[in-house]
Amino acid sequence: MAFEFSMVGRRLALGSGIGELMDDLGEALASSGEGLCMLGGGQPAMIPEVDALWRRRIKELLASKDGLQRMLSIYEPPVGGSRFRKAVADGLCQEFGWDLTEDCIAVTPGGQCAFFFLFNLLAGEMPEGDPRKILFPLMPEYIGYSDQGMERNLFLSVPPQIEEIGDREFKYHIDFEAVEATAARHEIGAICVSRPTNPSGNVLTDSEIARLRDLARSIRVPLIIDNAYGQPLPGIVFEKATPIWDEGIILTLSLSKIGLPGTRTGIVIASPQVVSALSSMTAIIGLANNNVGQTIAAPLLESGELLDLARTVVQPYYRRKCEEARSAFQRELPAHVPWRLHSAEGALFLWLWLPSLPVNSKELYERLKKRGVLVIPGEYFFFGLESPDWSHRHECIRISYAMDHETVATGARIIGEEISKVFAMP
Ligand SMILES: Cc1ncc(COP(=O)(O)O)c(C=O)c1O
Repeated sequence: MAFEFSMVGRRLALGSGIGELMDDLGEALASSGEGLCMLGGGQPAMIPEVDALWRRRIKELLASKDGLQRMLSIYEPPVGGSRFRKAVADGLCQEFGWDLTEDCIAVTPGGQCAFFFLFNLLAGEMPEGDPRKILFPLMPEYIGYSDQGMERNLFLSVPPQIEEIGDREFKYHIDFEAVEATAARHEIGAICVSRPTNPSGNVLTDSEIARLRDLARSIRVPLIIDNAYGQPLPGIVFEKATPIWDEGIILTLSLSKIGLPGTRTGIVIASPQVVSALSSMTAIIGLANNNVGQTIAAPLLESGELLDLARTVVQPYYRRKCEEARSAFQRELPAHVPWRLHSAEGALFLWLWLPSLPVNSKELYERLKKRGVLVIPGEYFFFGLESPDWSHRHECIRISYAMDHETVATGARIIGEEISKVFAMP
């Protein structure tokens, strides 16, 4: 028997572009198994030193008198465990000289959930005045945001300026005139950026962030900075970029990309007003958070070991992998095609732009899938645009380089061959 779903139910339950794509990736993985080049997901790499640390912590918890019991058998308060929140606050104060306490820290069931809470807290129908929107000042942005609005049309976004660098590179910059004009024409509830940006690996400069903060302040809304790949954790940043926080900024972190995605631990650094709102939302939706990541990480944050590991192992590991992946693509992509890679400034991805691509990136994705290579077509990362017919959105693909080098190199070869074929089409 089929039941009728509410409007909210329909928005959240009847599938989304990205949901279908993730199912597609999952099915392809399940059916093809060995030999598949999985360059599509946001899965972090398996780094031996990181794995060894988790194993050590689990052993310590098993050996301790009540460690395991506390981790598995207790409902912590919805705002998060106090030892973990204090460890995060102290770690950030020590690392960056910020002035904050655990009252400014909320834990959420993963970073993804933090965004669902924040977007629906700050935008949509308001008690007074017009409905508000979340403004993304630099599209393309993280695919995972695109279906998170409980109300329709929650998002508004602005295309970037594109700087072409040499023959084979490019970089996005915020088009501030367009962003400021858009903010003046609409009611805005928050401005949101990921830094480093998923999918492009762009890292917004200190001056871009300062100008966004000023804009957000001038319209009395928060600037949300999604730091899923940023400093100090996991610290996958290859350019100088100063982390920043004050009470006008909502900064999100996650334990996922350092290697604990299975623990679903998001961290939000915000004013006590926002922290208290998030705590209430967690209580309503899930009662409490998962304790596992918090329990594993708290002593490692207190001792500074986790931040050291990010600095000395995780960041150099991804930098090396990124360089190897770029070399493989530079070798394998066809010389007669006008391809460009986005500057590699952070995160786990290469963002490949194929100007004048004769098919759209979804078709290129399908062709690659038939050859056993999974990437993400670029279209999904462009949402909320006021004029959606922008050819660039059909000309990009996102390629993860977190897998082993052989997989990435094979993927590069096959991607190069398929690109040659589509550019040779009549
Ligand atoms: C930019 C960005 N933000 C947030 C998330 C959510 O991550 P999690 O829910 O695992 O913390 C991801 C995951 O890939 C991401 O890439």
